[in-house]
Amino acid sequence: MNILLLGSGGREHALGWKMAQSPLLKKLFIAPGNGGTAEVGENVDLNPNDFPSVISFIRSRSIDGVVVGPEDPLVNGIRDAIESESDLKDVWIIGPGRAGAQLEGSKEFAKDFMQRHAIPTARYGTFTNDNISEGHSFLDTLEAPFVLKADGLAAGKGVLIIDDREKAKSELTAMLNGKFGAASAKVVIEEFLHGIELSVFVLTDGTSYKLLPSAKDYKRIGEGDVGLNTGGMGAISPVPFANEEFLKKVEERIVAPTVNGLKTDEIPFCGFLFIGLMNVNGAPFVIEYNVRMGDPETEVVMPRLDTDLVALFRAAGTNQLHSENPIFKTETAVTVMLVSGGYPEAYEKGKEISGVEEITESRVFHAGTKKEESRLITNGGRVLAITSLGSNLDEALNKSYRSIDQIEFDQMNYRKDIGFDLR
Ligand code: AMP
Ligand code: GLY
Repeated sequence: MNILLLGSGGREHALGWKMAQSPLLKKLFIAPGNGGTAEVGENVDLNPNDFPSVISFIRSRSIDGVVVGPEDPLVNGIRDAIESESDLKDVWIIGPGRAGAQLEGSKEFAKDFMQRHAIPTARYGTFTNDNISEGHSFLDTLEAPFVLKADGLAAGKGVLIIDDREKAKSELTAMLNGKFGAASAKVVIEEFLHGIELSVFVLTDGTSYKLLPSAKDYKRIGEGDVGLNTGGMGAISPVPFANEEFLKKVEERIVAPTVNGLKTDEIPFCGFLFIGLMNVNGAPFVIEYNVRMGDPETEVVMPRLDTDLVALFRAAGTNQLHSENPIFKTETAVTVMLVSGGYPEAYEKGKEISGVEEITESRVFHAGTKKEESRLITNGGRVLAITSLGSNLDEALNKSYRSIDQIEFDQMNYRKDIGFDLR
């Protein structure tokens, strides 16, 4: 099979690395890819949001399957665009159409979906400039802290958590007046949930679904979970407190009603569901849906997969997922992100990276890297995800941190406390 994988981060390197192990794979193309994906397939200079170019590429290279890594091409309707080409009917696609991608693309859509299908989530209201005074009244019914979410995609920055009620009201005004551009022309306000966060991943063809391992990511830049939010500074899988009893609740109360709800609403959905959860005293509540894998969560989920990923994707993409039984390693996986100094604010690119070839205890997934002749250089905020497996969390963490000691680039930064709250 010839497969086209869209995206350029650590997630895509991990997905590509796993697919490259499949005897079913003939040729893997990654668009646009990075310095690491070039080692598992062929990078292609193609923008995932340029649908006409993606479609010509699918035709010219006889692509059998397309795997969409990031959310924006999905929200923009890449699946619908490919499906509308009559000669590409046999091409399978991992990632939902525009309708299903609304679960991630619109917080209001996701909250209304959960309410309609009785899926546990925080109490909420949706407001625009037309009913801003109702927004203020709704804030008066809630207790601090206050959670304000831009309805649309805002590159992970559209959620504000505010302690002061009057500040929450003024931020509501600012959001409705363009603080996050068009994404915050509508704002969801919701009740704050107290608990511990984790993520559960599901692959579905719209009828069957398979649970993938749970994971927890570390979003803040600073140790002890302080400072600015990032795309993710590290992750672990499995999550120790997500035991069988808790995961059974997640499946019964959230995963099955979500897949069935999509069916009831006549929304076809083939792809990943990444469900952000809060464990509130043993009861799972949905914080958010994403319609793709997480990054860096993919870097800990894929190394635990003991099944052919291409076979799994082909089955999901052709409505045969019921025939698959993915197996996962019981070992613990951890990943620690090496980032550029200054990230998540301004940072420099183009720093030479050394030591990666000498790593033996860990797998290095590239996030923001580029090959320039034989040199590997930094090309983004998140640079490398250093992933290890171990019989327990400490063993896996020790391997990653020993590997990190061998890697160097100017102004390299990372968190030394990944998994600190779970040890
Ligand atoms: P989201 O983009 O919806 O995942 O929100 C970003 C982050 O804000 C989440 O990962 C949580 O840490 C936090 N958050 C969002 N909604 C809530 C909520 N209702 N209660 C507590 N924390 C929340
Ligand atoms: N690590 C969070 C995300 O991929 O959205």
